[in-house]
Amino acid sequence: MRPIILAAAALVAASSAVHAADDLMKRSTELFAPIAGPGPEAKAASRTMIELGKSLYFDPRVSASGLISCNSCHNVGGGGVDGMETSVGHAWAKGPRNAPTVLNATFNASQFWDGRAPNLKEQAKGPVQAGVEMNNTPDRVEATLKSMPAYVAQFAKAFPKEKQPVTFDNMATAIAAFEATLVTPDAPFDRYLKGDAKALTAQQKKGLATFIDSGCASCHSGVNLGGGSFQKFGVAGDPPEAARPGADKGREKVTSNPDDAFVFRVPTLRNVALTAPYFHSGKIRSLDQAVRIMAESQLGKTLSDAEAADVVAFLDSLTGRQPQVTLPVLPPSTATTPAPSL
Ligand code: HEC
Ligand code: HEC
Repeated sequence: MRPIILAAAALVAASSAVHAADDLMKRSTELFAPIAGPGPEAKAASRTMIELGKSLYFDPRVSASGLISCNSCHNVGGGGVDGMETSVGHAWAKGPRNAPTVLNATFNASQFWDGRAPNLKEQAKGPVQAGVEMNNTPDRVEATLKSMPAYVAQFAKAFPKEKQPVTFDNMATAIAAFEATLVTPDAPFDRYLKGDAKALTAQQKKGLATFIDSGCASCHSGVNLGGGSFQKFGVAGDPPEAARPGADKGREKVTSNPDDAFVFRVPTLRNVALTAPYFHSGKIRSLDQAVRIMAESQLGKTLSDAEAADVVAFLDSLTGRQPQVTLPVLPPSTATTPAPSL
């Protein structure tokens, strides 16, 4: 009898393991979603408009100095970030915050760490004018673009119904259309969500279970594992001053509501293994440390070394297929193109 009982017990154990695995996949599909394709701004745009947006994204002449493009701080070949603690812009000026990735930004419900722009188009107007970024003016950008016949022709094709297509506003529309193509599908986690149980390693599955069970997914959920809500950085207790310096109160500055002190838009965790350093402050270089700070400050939990390593392994599974972008050949400057100014 003995061997038979053992075999039956083994069968029960094996089938409950299968159930636990099925259950993890089912719970995951309820909380997260795979990337299905480009974002809405790209779906609504023509090929011509996306190509124009690409040129503008890579063109440093959108900045006053003629040196800084969107790609300077959001390197499409480098996780969509600059790797700096906080960005360096016009005349070597150091900005106040870390550059978030542009990859999959189209899926965020709002833009910037404090959510002050509602969408990619409105967002794109900010850095061009920011003194510590590109330090330009809408009029000067329009004069620059109008000075190059190739741009005038491209704008006319991209905005065929308009009499004066070369505008600052249309520049932002085109850039947003291009940015919405910068998505990273086919991450191991996407394949898992689509039913491939082998797409994650055993450790990544353990990390996923810890991520869900300890409460990370209450804020980091949806297609972007974040990007959808505003939350205080420090729900369960103040994070270390090094990670959350006191001077930047986040959303409080946008809403003037003291309840919004230290509230930030939850960032996406897609490609997070590529986007160090972390947090709006950019003070934390290690993902392991960022995960531990999150557990303490958002959930009041201390992760064991093994749990933290599992969660980091799971976060690695969020690195998707990086966009392959052919560099645009930019229209040549002409005699009337405003000279670079520093
Ligand atoms: C000097 C560096 C720099 C340049 C140049 C720059 N950015 Fe940024 N970008 C940043 C920083 C820093 C932030 C975050 C600022 C904040 O939240 O207050 C940001 C935020 C963003 C975001 C929001 C992402 C999110 O998750 O909220 C997008 C999208 C973006 N930039 C796109 C662009 C585009 C398009 C351009 C060119 C028109 C551009 N950036 C130029 C540094 C830069
Ligand atoms: C209550 C909401 C909430 C919970 C729960 C939460 N987070 Fe966060 N997470 C945030 C917010 C808000 C930020 C941005 C903080 C900042 O920089 O101001 C963030 C930032 C991060 C970052 C840095 C991302 C970057 O690009 O800089 C990582 C990594 C992260 N969270 C992982 C986790 C993990 C792992 C857990 C669970 C242990 C977790 N989070 C739980 C809200 C939350």
